[in-house]
Amino acid sequence: MAIERTLILIKPDGVQRGIVGDIIGRFERTGMKIVGMKLMKMSDELASQHYKDHVGKGFYAGLVKFMTSSPLVALAVEGPKAVENCRKLMGKTFCTDAQAGTIRGDFGVSRGLNLVHGSDSAESAQRELGLFFQANELQEYSRAVDAWTWNDEDKG
Ligand code: RTP
Ligand code: MG
Repeated sequence: MAIERTLILIKPDGVQRGIVGDIIGRFERTGMKIVGMKLMKMSDELASQHYKDHVGKGFYAGLVKFMTSSPLVALAVEGPKAVENCRKLMGKTFCTDAQAGTIRGDFGVSRGLNLVHGSDSAESAQRELGLFFQANELQEYSRAVDAWTWNDEDKG
């Protein structure tokens, strides 16, 4: 089944700069479906779980300080190859390297203030969605436009 879900975070810099709507719009307008969404503060505990693969790295303390400094928006996004598709929309990790046309390329100028997070594999997506959303916070619903947005070929 190629229809999958991924976790997107609009990081504190995106919320503070007032571009949450613009960033969500980038994901929405592809046709992908928002199935979960919340404004929340990341705790140190959640940061250590979410970034468990980065614990101990030189940038870890700064990353946690940034991510816990102010609210972020968590999104669960669904669609064909959602993990890869969202990463493509986001662009390279640091805004300074990201291509024009991507979220990081179009909305950011900083290296570390890079606006968004997206899960990097189906396995990470499943794990990370579980950290940010309870099962009953994720919605299962059809849209009238679904049949014109993806078809059986996309479902794999
Ligand atoms: P993300 O997880 O945020 O979607 O981005 P990514 O997969 O492209 O980057 P990743 O390697 O998972 O790193 C997670 C976040 O840590 C910060 N970082 N800083 N100073 C550094 O060398 C460095 N490396 C990573 C970035 O905020 C990155 O998004
Ligand atoms: Mg990552």
